[in-house]
Amino acid sequence: MHNPSSLGSYVVAEQQATINSFVVLVASIAAVAGILFGFDTGVISGAILFIRKDFMLSGLMEGLIVSSVLWGAVIGSAVSGYFADYFGRKLLLILTGLIFIVGTLASAFSPTVPLFFFSRLIVGFAIGVASFVSPLYISEVAPPRFRGMLVSLNQLAITIGILCSYGVDAYFAETGEWCWMLGIGVIPAVILFFGMLMLPQSPRWIVLKGRIDKARHILKMIRRQENVEAELNDIKNSIEEKRDWRLLFQKWLRPAIILGIGLGFFQQCTGINAIIYYAPTIFEMAGFKTASAAISVTAIVGIVNVLFTIIALPLIDLWGRRPLLLLGLTGMGISLLILSISFYVGADSEMLKWSALLSMVGFIIFFAMSLGPIMWLVIAEVFPLEIRGLGTSLMISASWIFNGMVAGSFITLVHLFDASGTFLIFAVLSVLGIVFVYRTVPETKGVSLEHIEANLRAGVPSRQLGHK
Ligand code: BGC
Repeated sequence: MHNPSSLGSYVVAEQQATINSFVVLVASIAAVAGILFGFDTGVISGAILFIRKDFMLSGLMEGLIVSSVLWGAVIGSAVSGYFADYFGRKLLLILTGLIFIVGTLASAFSPTVPLFFFSRLIVGFAIGVASFVSPLYISEVAPPRFRGMLVSLNQLAITIGILCSYGVDAYFAETGEWCWMLGIGVIPAVILFFGMLMLPQSPRWIVLKGRIDKARHILKMIRRQENVEAELNDIKNSIEEKRDWRLLFQKWLRPAIILGIGLGFFQQCTGINAIIYYAPTIFEMAGFKTASAAISVTAIVGIVNVLFTIIALPLIDLWGRRPLLLLGLTGMGISLLILSISFYVGADSEMLKWSALLSMVGFIIFFAMSLGPIMWLVIAEVFPLEIRGLGTSLMISASWIFNGMVAGSFITLVHLFDASGTFLIFAVLSVLGIVFVYRTVPETKGVSLEHIEANLRAGVPSRQLGHK
Protein backbone atom coordinates (compact mmCIF):
# COMPACT_ATOMS: atom_id res chain seq x y z
CA MET A 1 0.00 0.00 0.00
CA HIS A 2 1.15 3.54 -0.68
CA ASN A 3 2.40 5.62 2.13
CA PRO A 4 1.64 9.33 1.91
CA SER A 5 4.95 10.18 3.54
CA SER A 6 6.88 8.63 0.64
CA LEU A 7 5.33 10.68 -2.10
CA GLY A 8 8.54 12.40 -3.13
CA SER A 9 8.77 10.80 -6.57
CA TYR A 10 5.32 12.07 -7.50
CA VAL A 11 6.39 15.61 -6.77
CA VAL A 12 9.32 15.24 -9.20
CA ALA A 13 7.05 14.11 -12.02
CA GLU A 14 4.49 16.79 -11.22
CA GLN A 15 7.11 19.49 -11.59
CA GLN A 16 8.70 18.12 -14.75
CA ALA A 17 5.83 18.15 -17.21
CA THR A 18 5.06 21.45 -18.87
CA ILE A 19 2.42 22.56 -21.33
CA ASN A 20 2.96 22.61 -25.11
CA SER A 21 0.84 23.28 -28.15
CA PHE A 22 0.46 19.60 -29.03
CA VAL A 23 -1.18 18.66 -25.75
CA VAL A 24 -3.48 21.69 -26.09
CA LEU A 25 -4.46 20.45 -29.57
CA VAL A 26 -5.09 16.94 -28.25
CA ALA A 27 -7.30 18.28 -25.44
CA SER A 28 -9.15 20.60 -27.82
CA ILE A 29 -10.03 17.81 -30.26
CA ALA A 30 -11.28 15.56 -27.45
CA ALA A 31 -13.28 18.52 -26.14
CA VAL A 32 -15.29 18.67 -29.39
CA ALA A 33 -17.38 16.02 -27.60
CA GLY A 34 -18.46 18.86 -25.29
CA ILE A 35 -19.76 20.89 -28.25
CA LEU A 36 -21.98 17.95 -29.18
CA PHE A 37 -23.14 17.64 -25.56
CA GLY A 38 -24.09 21.32 -25.36
CA PHE A 39 -25.55 21.54 -28.85
CA ASP A 40 -27.68 18.43 -28.67
CA THR A 41 -29.05 19.19 -25.20
CA GLY A 42 -29.78 22.82 -26.15
CA VAL A 43 -31.14 22.56 -29.69
CA ILE A 44 -34.39 20.81 -28.82
CA SER A 45 -35.79 23.81 -26.91
CA GLY A 46 -36.24 25.75 -30.16
CA ALA A 47 -36.79 22.80 -32.50
CA ILE A 48 -39.65 21.37 -30.44
CA LEU A 49 -41.87 24.33 -31.35
CA PHE A 50 -41.94 23.08 -34.96
CA ILE A 51 -41.61 19.33 -34.34
CA ARG A 52 -44.70 19.59 -32.13
CA LYS A 53 -46.70 20.92 -35.06
CA ASP A 54 -45.32 18.60 -37.74
CA PHE A 55 -45.84 15.43 -35.73
CA MET A 56 -48.96 16.74 -33.90
CA LEU A 57 -47.50 15.62 -30.58
CA SER A 58 -49.55 15.09 -27.45
CA GLY A 59 -48.24 16.73 -24.25
CA LEU A 60 -47.01 13.35 -23.02
CA MET A 61 -45.18 12.56 -26.25
CA GLU A 62 -43.59 16.00 -26.27
CA GLY A 63 -42.29 15.48 -22.74
CA LEU A 64 -40.90 12.09 -23.73
CA ILE A 65 -39.17 13.50 -26.79
CA VAL A 66 -37.62 16.44 -24.96
CA SER A 67 -36.33 14.25 -22.15
CA SER A 68 -35.21 11.34 -24.38
CA VAL A 69 -31.70 12.78 -24.70
CA LEU A 70 -31.34 12.97 -20.92
CA TRP A 71 -32.44 9.38 -20.38
CA GLY A 72 -30.25 8.22 -23.26
CA ALA A 73 -27.36 9.95 -21.51
CA VAL A 74 -28.12 8.19 -18.23
CA ILE A 75 -27.96 4.83 -20.03
CA GLY A 76 -24.90 5.73 -22.14
CA SER A 77 -22.82 6.88 -19.21
CA ALA A 78 -23.92 4.00 -16.98
CA VAL A 79 -23.20 1.12 -19.35
CA SER A 80 -19.99 2.24 -21.02
CA GLY A 81 -17.58 2.62 -18.09
CA TYR A 82 -16.35 -0.94 -18.42
CA PHE A 83 -15.61 -0.39 -22.11
CA ALA A 84 -13.54 2.71 -21.34
CA ASP A 85 -11.30 0.55 -19.19
CA TYR A 86 -11.34 -2.43 -21.56
CA PHE A 87 -11.11 -0.91 -25.06
CA GLY A 88 -9.56 2.40 -24.02
CA ARG A 89 -10.64 6.02 -23.99
CA LYS A 90 -9.62 6.76 -27.59
CA LEU A 91 -11.52 3.93 -29.24
CA LEU A 92 -14.61 4.75 -27.22
CA LEU A 93 -14.49 8.40 -28.30
CA ILE A 94 -14.12 7.34 -31.95
CA LEU A 95 -17.13 5.05 -31.64
CA THR A 96 -19.05 7.81 -29.91
CA GLY A 97 -18.33 10.13 -32.86
CA LEU A 98 -19.82 7.48 -35.11
CA ILE A 99 -22.92 7.05 -32.94
CA PHE A 100 -23.37 10.84 -32.94
CA ILE A 101 -23.25 10.89 -36.76
CA VAL A 102 -25.81 8.09 -37.11
CA GLY A 103 -28.12 9.40 -34.35
CA THR A 104 -28.04 12.99 -35.62
CA LEU A 105 -28.80 12.08 -39.23
CA ALA A 106 -31.51 9.65 -38.16
CA SER A 107 -33.21 12.27 -35.99
CA ALA A 108 -32.97 14.99 -38.63
CA PHE A 109 -34.61 12.77 -41.25
CA SER A 110 -37.03 10.81 -39.07
CA PRO A 111 -40.34 10.33 -40.86
CA THR A 112 -42.21 9.02 -37.79
CA VAL A 113 -42.50 9.82 -34.09
CA PRO A 114 -41.18 6.45 -32.81
CA LEU A 115 -38.14 6.70 -35.07
CA PHE A 116 -37.55 10.27 -33.98
CA PHE A 117 -37.80 9.32 -30.32
CA PHE A 118 -35.44 6.40 -30.80
CA SER A 119 -32.84 8.42 -32.70
CA ARG A 120 -32.85 11.15 -30.02
CA LEU A 121 -32.32 8.39 -27.47
CA ILE A 122 -29.26 7.30 -29.48
CA VAL A 123 -27.91 10.86 -29.55
CA GLY A 124 -28.44 10.98 -25.77
CA PHE A 125 -26.58 7.70 -25.41
CA ALA A 126 -23.61 9.19 -27.26
CA ILE A 127 -23.74 12.32 -25.08
CA GLY A 128 -23.69 10.14 -21.97
CA VAL A 129 -20.59 8.26 -23.12
CA ALA A 130 -18.78 11.37 -24.34
CA SER A 131 -19.61 13.31 -21.18
CA PHE A 132 -17.35 11.18 -19.04
CA VAL A 133 -14.79 9.79 -21.51
CA SER A 134 -13.71 13.18 -22.83
CA PRO A 135 -12.74 14.71 -19.42
CA LEU A 136 -11.24 11.37 -18.44
CA TYR A 137 -9.05 11.17 -21.55
CA ILE A 138 -7.93 14.79 -21.21
CA SER A 139 -7.11 14.35 -17.52
CA GLU A 140 -4.85 11.44 -18.44
CA VAL A 141 -2.88 13.26 -21.14
CA ALA A 142 -2.61 16.63 -19.35
CA PRO A 143 0.43 17.68 -17.32
CA PRO A 144 -0.66 18.09 -13.64
CA ARG A 145 -0.04 21.82 -13.45
CA PHE A 146 -2.41 22.54 -16.34
CA ARG A 147 -4.88 19.70 -15.90
CA GLY A 148 -7.63 21.95 -14.55
CA MET A 149 -7.51 24.23 -17.54
CA LEU A 150 -7.21 21.49 -20.16
CA VAL A 151 -9.98 19.29 -18.74
CA SER A 152 -12.21 22.34 -18.46
CA LEU A 153 -11.88 22.96 -22.20
CA ASN A 154 -14.59 20.32 -22.28
CA GLN A 155 -16.91 22.52 -20.18
CA LEU A 156 -16.05 25.49 -22.38
CA ALA A 157 -17.06 23.39 -25.38
CA ILE A 158 -20.36 22.51 -23.66
CA THR A 159 -21.17 26.19 -23.20
CA ILE A 160 -20.18 26.98 -26.81
CA GLY A 161 -22.40 24.10 -27.96
CA ILE A 162 -25.35 25.50 -25.99
CA LEU A 163 -24.78 28.97 -27.45
CA CYS A 164 -24.53 27.59 -31.00
CA SER A 165 -27.78 25.72 -30.48
CA TYR A 166 -29.53 28.99 -29.54
CA GLY A 167 -28.06 30.62 -32.68
CA VAL A 168 -29.03 27.75 -34.98
CA ASP A 169 -32.55 27.63 -33.53
CA ALA A 170 -32.95 31.37 -34.02
CA TYR A 171 -31.60 31.20 -37.59
CA PHE A 172 -33.95 28.47 -38.75
CA ALA A 173 -36.93 29.67 -36.69
CA GLU A 174 -38.05 31.84 -39.60
CA THR A 175 -38.63 28.83 -41.85
CA GLY A 176 -39.21 26.26 -39.10
CA GLU A 177 -36.79 23.80 -40.70
CA TRP A 178 -36.15 21.65 -37.67
CA CYS A 179 -34.36 19.03 -39.72
CA TRP A 180 -31.59 21.59 -40.30
CA MET A 181 -31.62 22.66 -36.66
CA LEU A 182 -30.81 19.11 -35.58
CA GLY A 183 -28.84 18.10 -38.66
CA ILE A 184 -26.12 20.73 -38.23
CA GLY A 185 -24.91 18.71 -35.24
CA VAL A 186 -23.37 16.29 -37.72
CA ILE A 187 -20.50 18.75 -38.35
CA PRO A 188 -18.89 18.52 -34.87
CA ALA A 189 -19.67 14.79 -34.87
CA VAL A 190 -17.58 14.29 -38.02
CA ILE A 191 -14.77 16.44 -36.55
CA LEU A 192 -14.78 14.34 -33.38
CA PHE A 193 -14.68 11.09 -35.33
CA PHE A 194 -11.81 11.99 -37.66
CA GLY A 195 -9.98 14.08 -35.05
CA MET A 196 -9.91 11.26 -32.53
CA LEU A 197 -8.59 8.84 -35.16
CA MET A 198 -5.44 10.95 -35.27
CA LEU A 199 -4.85 11.36 -31.53
CA PRO A 200 -2.65 9.17 -29.33
CA GLN A 201 -4.03 6.72 -26.80
CA SER A 202 -4.14 7.77 -23.16
CA PRO A 203 -0.65 6.90 -21.88
CA ARG A 204 -2.13 5.89 -18.53
CA TRP A 205 -4.52 3.42 -20.11
CA ILE A 206 -1.65 2.00 -22.18
CA VAL A 207 0.35 1.39 -18.99
CA LEU A 208 -2.68 -0.34 -17.53
CA LYS A 209 -2.56 -2.67 -20.55
CA GLY A 210 1.10 -3.44 -19.77
CA ARG A 211 2.53 -1.82 -22.93
CA ILE A 212 5.25 0.20 -21.26
CA ASP A 213 7.33 0.99 -24.38
CA LYS A 214 4.31 2.31 -26.20
CA ALA A 215 3.37 4.42 -23.16
CA ARG A 216 6.91 5.86 -23.05
CA HIS A 217 6.66 6.73 -26.74
CA ILE A 218 3.29 8.49 -26.25
CA LEU A 219 4.50 10.38 -23.18
CA LYS A 220 7.53 11.65 -25.10
CA MET A 221 5.25 12.79 -27.89
CA ILE A 222 2.70 14.61 -25.72
CA ARG A 223 5.23 16.07 -23.29
CA ARG A 224 7.58 17.12 -26.11
CA GLN A 225 10.52 15.96 -23.99
CA GLU A 226 12.82 12.96 -23.81
CA ASN A 227 12.89 12.48 -20.06
CA VAL A 228 9.54 10.98 -19.11
CA GLU A 229 10.80 8.20 -16.83
CA ALA A 230 9.65 9.81 -13.57
CA GLU A 231 6.08 10.17 -14.82
CA LEU A 232 6.11 6.70 -16.35
CA ASN A 233 7.35 5.16 -13.10
CA ASP A 234 4.65 6.93 -11.13
CA ILE A 235 1.97 5.53 -13.41
CA LYS A 236 3.47 2.02 -13.25
CA ASN A 237 3.73 2.14 -9.48
CA SER A 238 0.17 3.27 -9.06
CA ILE A 239 -1.19 0.02 -10.49
CA GLU A 240 -1.69 -2.33 -7.59
CA GLU A 241 -4.67 -4.51 -8.21
CA LYS A 242 -6.37 -6.24 -11.09
CA ARG A 243 -9.11 -4.27 -12.72
CA ASP A 244 -12.25 -5.51 -11.08
CA TRP A 245 -15.60 -3.87 -10.46
CA ARG A 246 -15.50 -5.19 -6.87
CA LEU A 247 -12.87 -2.52 -6.20
CA LEU A 248 -15.81 -0.10 -6.15
CA PHE A 249 -16.91 -1.56 -2.84
CA GLN A 250 -13.55 -1.20 -1.08
CA LYS A 251 -13.71 1.05 1.93
CA TRP A 252 -10.76 3.17 0.81
CA LEU A 253 -12.62 4.11 -2.36
CA ARG A 254 -15.58 5.58 -0.49
CA PRO A 255 -14.32 9.20 -0.53
CA ALA A 256 -14.15 9.12 -4.34
CA ILE A 257 -17.73 7.87 -4.54
CA ILE A 258 -19.03 10.43 -2.06
CA LEU A 259 -17.23 13.19 -3.96
CA GLY A 260 -18.57 11.99 -7.31
CA ILE A 261 -22.19 11.66 -6.27
CA GLY A 262 -22.11 14.80 -4.10
CA LEU A 263 -20.63 17.05 -6.78
CA GLY A 264 -23.03 15.69 -9.41
CA PHE A 265 -25.95 16.29 -7.04
CA PHE A 266 -25.01 19.86 -6.21
CA GLN A 267 -24.11 20.74 -9.80
CA GLN A 268 -27.56 19.74 -10.96
CA CYS A 269 -29.83 20.28 -7.96
CA THR A 270 -28.87 23.92 -7.47
CA GLY A 271 -30.89 24.55 -10.62
CA ILE A 272 -28.51 25.20 -13.54
CA ASN A 273 -30.73 23.46 -16.05
CA ALA A 274 -33.90 25.05 -14.76
CA ILE A 275 -32.21 28.17 -16.11
CA ILE A 276 -30.49 26.74 -19.20
CA TYR A 277 -33.51 24.76 -20.44
CA TYR A 278 -36.30 27.07 -19.23
CA ALA A 279 -34.77 30.55 -19.47
CA PRO A 280 -37.35 31.84 -21.99
CA THR A 281 -40.18 30.55 -19.78
CA ILE A 282 -38.71 32.17 -16.66
CA PHE A 283 -38.18 35.44 -18.51
CA GLU A 284 -41.79 35.35 -19.67
CA MET A 285 -42.92 34.77 -16.08
CA ALA A 286 -40.80 37.76 -15.06
CA GLY A 287 -42.58 40.02 -17.52
CA PHE A 288 -40.74 39.91 -20.85
CA LYS A 289 -44.02 39.62 -22.65
CA THR A 290 -43.11 38.63 -26.20
CA ALA A 291 -41.47 35.33 -27.01
CA SER A 292 -38.81 37.11 -29.06
CA ALA A 293 -37.87 39.37 -26.10
CA ALA A 294 -37.63 36.30 -23.86
CA ILE A 295 -35.48 34.49 -26.43
CA SER A 296 -33.16 37.49 -26.88
CA VAL A 297 -32.45 37.78 -23.17
CA THR A 298 -31.85 34.02 -23.13
CA ALA A 299 -29.01 34.64 -25.61
CA ILE A 300 -27.41 36.88 -22.95
CA VAL A 301 -27.39 33.90 -20.58
CA GLY A 302 -25.66 31.78 -23.22
CA ILE A 303 -23.00 34.40 -23.97
CA VAL A 304 -22.25 35.08 -20.30
CA ASN A 305 -21.90 31.33 -19.75
CA VAL A 306 -19.20 31.07 -22.43
CA LEU A 307 -17.34 34.24 -21.35
CA PHE A 308 -17.09 33.33 -17.69
CA THR A 309 -16.06 29.77 -18.44
CA ILE A 310 -13.14 31.26 -20.41
CA ILE A 311 -12.27 33.47 -17.43
CA ALA A 312 -12.42 30.46 -15.09
CA LEU A 313 -10.04 28.30 -17.15
CA PRO A 314 -6.68 29.67 -15.90
CA LEU A 315 -8.06 30.33 -12.40
CA ILE A 316 -8.77 26.64 -11.77
CA ASP A 317 -5.04 25.86 -11.71
CA LEU A 318 -4.05 29.22 -10.24
CA TRP A 319 -6.48 29.68 -7.34
CA GLY A 320 -7.42 26.01 -7.09
CA ARG A 321 -10.64 24.04 -7.06
CA ARG A 322 -11.80 24.70 -3.49
CA PRO A 323 -11.70 28.53 -3.44
CA LEU A 324 -13.54 28.68 -6.76
CA LEU A 325 -16.19 26.21 -5.62
CA LEU A 326 -16.75 28.02 -2.33
CA LEU A 327 -16.89 31.42 -4.00
CA GLY A 328 -19.09 30.12 -6.81
CA LEU A 329 -21.62 28.41 -4.58
CA THR A 330 -21.86 31.49 -2.36
CA GLY A 331 -22.53 33.66 -5.41
CA MET A 332 -25.02 31.16 -6.82
CA GLY A 333 -26.87 31.05 -3.48
CA ILE A 334 -27.05 34.86 -3.22
CA SER A 335 -28.22 35.20 -6.85
CA LEU A 336 -30.94 32.57 -6.29
CA LEU A 337 -32.08 34.31 -3.13
CA ILE A 338 -32.39 37.63 -4.98
CA LEU A 339 -34.28 35.85 -7.78
CA SER A 340 -36.62 34.27 -5.24
CA ILE A 341 -37.24 37.59 -3.43
CA SER A 342 -37.79 39.35 -6.76
CA PHE A 343 -40.55 36.93 -7.71
CA TYR A 344 -42.02 37.14 -4.19
CA VAL A 345 -42.31 40.90 -3.93
CA GLY A 346 -42.31 41.99 -7.49
CA ALA A 347 -44.98 40.11 -9.41
CA ASP A 348 -46.02 42.27 -12.36
CA SER A 349 -43.62 45.08 -11.59
CA GLU A 350 -41.11 46.51 -14.06
CA MET A 351 -38.38 45.97 -11.47
CA LEU A 352 -38.96 42.21 -11.49
CA LYS A 353 -37.93 41.95 -15.12
CA TRP A 354 -34.55 43.49 -14.52
CA SER A 355 -33.80 41.96 -11.16
CA ALA A 356 -34.70 38.55 -12.61
CA LEU A 357 -32.38 39.13 -15.55
CA LEU A 358 -29.52 40.37 -13.35
CA SER A 359 -29.82 37.61 -10.78
CA MET A 360 -29.98 34.90 -13.46
CA VAL A 361 -26.90 36.35 -15.13
CA GLY A 362 -25.20 36.46 -11.71
CA PHE A 363 -26.10 32.82 -11.11
CA ILE A 364 -24.64 31.80 -14.49
CA ILE A 365 -21.43 33.75 -13.84
CA PHE A 366 -20.83 31.99 -10.53
CA PHE A 367 -21.81 28.58 -11.90
CA ALA A 368 -19.51 28.98 -14.92
CA MET A 369 -16.60 29.77 -12.61
CA SER A 370 -17.16 26.90 -10.20
CA LEU A 371 -19.42 23.85 -10.34
CA GLY A 372 -19.71 24.03 -14.15
CA PRO A 373 -16.16 23.00 -14.95
CA ILE A 374 -15.00 21.68 -11.57
CA MET A 375 -17.52 18.87 -11.15
CA TRP A 376 -16.22 17.13 -14.30
CA LEU A 377 -12.65 17.81 -13.35
CA VAL A 378 -12.68 16.48 -9.80
CA ILE A 379 -14.61 13.35 -10.78
CA ALA A 380 -12.03 12.62 -13.51
CA GLU A 381 -9.26 13.09 -10.94
CA VAL A 382 -10.21 10.98 -7.95
CA PHE A 383 -10.70 7.41 -9.20
CA PRO A 384 -7.79 4.95 -9.27
CA LEU A 385 -6.48 3.99 -12.72
CA GLU A 386 -7.68 0.37 -12.63
CA ILE A 387 -11.32 1.40 -12.48
CA ARG A 388 -11.18 5.03 -13.54
CA GLY A 389 -13.49 4.41 -16.51
CA LEU A 390 -16.05 2.44 -14.53
CA GLY A 391 -15.97 4.75 -11.49
CA THR A 392 -16.31 8.01 -13.40
CA SER A 393 -19.00 6.58 -15.67
CA LEU A 394 -21.20 5.63 -12.72
CA MET A 395 -20.74 9.02 -11.04
CA ILE A 396 -21.54 10.89 -14.23
CA SER A 397 -24.54 8.67 -14.79
CA ALA A 398 -25.83 9.69 -11.36
CA SER A 399 -25.40 13.35 -12.32
CA TRP A 400 -27.50 12.73 -15.49
CA ILE A 401 -30.23 11.24 -13.29
CA PHE A 402 -30.19 14.41 -11.14
CA ASN A 403 -30.30 16.45 -14.34
CA GLY A 404 -33.38 14.53 -15.54
CA MET A 405 -35.05 14.94 -12.14
CA VAL A 406 -34.61 18.72 -12.04
CA ALA A 407 -35.50 19.25 -15.70
CA GLY A 408 -38.53 16.98 -15.35
CA SER A 409 -39.86 18.53 -12.14
CA PHE A 410 -39.14 22.25 -12.58
CA ILE A 411 -42.51 23.23 -14.04
CA THR A 412 -44.36 21.13 -11.43
CA LEU A 413 -42.32 22.77 -8.67
CA VAL A 414 -43.25 26.21 -10.01
CA HIS A 415 -46.94 25.20 -9.91
CA LEU A 416 -46.60 23.90 -6.37
CA PHE A 417 -44.38 26.55 -4.77
CA ASP A 418 -44.36 29.43 -7.30
CA ALA A 419 -41.19 30.61 -8.95
CA SER A 420 -40.20 32.29 -5.70
CA GLY A 421 -40.43 29.11 -3.60
CA THR A 422 -38.68 27.03 -6.24
CA PHE A 423 -35.67 29.34 -6.44
CA LEU A 424 -35.57 29.43 -2.65
CA ILE A 425 -35.22 25.63 -2.64
CA PHE A 426 -32.29 25.93 -5.06
CA ALA A 427 -30.77 28.64 -2.82
CA VAL A 428 -30.98 26.39 0.25
CA LEU A 429 -29.35 23.57 -1.72
CA SER A 430 -26.52 25.95 -2.64
CA VAL A 431 -25.90 26.57 1.06
CA LEU A 432 -25.78 22.81 1.67
CA GLY A 433 -23.38 22.64 -1.28
CA ILE A 434 -21.02 25.07 0.48
CA VAL A 435 -20.99 22.81 3.55
CA PHE A 436 -20.35 19.74 1.36
CA VAL A 437 -17.47 21.38 -0.50
CA TYR A 438 -15.94 22.79 2.67
CA ARG A 439 -15.96 19.40 4.38
CA THR A 440 -15.14 16.97 1.58
CA VAL A 441 -13.65 18.42 -1.61
CA PRO A 442 -9.84 18.15 -1.79
CA GLU A 443 -7.55 20.73 -3.37
CA THR A 444 -6.03 18.83 -6.29
CA LYS A 445 -4.35 21.68 -8.16
CA GLY A 446 -0.90 20.76 -9.45
CA VAL A 447 -1.02 17.27 -7.93
CA SER A 448 -0.57 14.21 -10.17
CA LEU A 449 -3.34 11.65 -10.55
CA GLU A 450 -0.99 9.02 -9.08
CA HIS A 451 -0.39 11.18 -6.03
CA ILE A 452 -4.14 11.55 -5.44
CA GLU A 453 -4.54 7.79 -5.85
CA ALA A 454 -1.77 7.04 -3.36
CA ASN A 455 -3.48 9.25 -0.78
CA LEU A 456 -6.81 7.56 -1.46
CA ARG A 457 -5.33 4.10 -0.97
CA ALA A 458 -3.60 5.21 2.21
CA GLY A 459 -6.99 6.09 3.71
CA VAL A 460 -6.37 9.84 3.85
CA PRO A 461 -9.64 11.74 4.50
CA SER A 462 -11.39 13.04 1.40
CA ARG A 463 -10.54 16.70 1.98
CA GLN A 464 -6.83 15.93 2.14
CA LEU A 465 -6.55 13.77 -0.99
CA GLY A 466 -4.44 16.42 -2.68
CA HIS A 467 -2.00 16.90 0.22
CA LYS A 468 1.68 16.38 -0.46
C1 BGC B 1 -23.77 20.77 -16.83
C2 BGC B 1 -24.95 20.86 -17.74
C3 BGC B 1 -25.27 22.31 -17.98
C4 BGC B 1 -24.05 23.05 -18.49
C5 BGC B 1 -24.30 24.52 -18.57
C6 BGC B 1 -22.60 21.48 -17.46
O1 BGC B 1 -21.47 21.37 -16.67
O2 BGC B 1 -23.44 19.41 -16.58
O3 BGC B 1 -26.02 20.17 -17.16
O4 BGC B 1 -26.32 22.44 -18.90
O5 BGC B 1 -22.94 22.83 -17.64
O6 BGC B 1 -23.16 25.22 -18.93
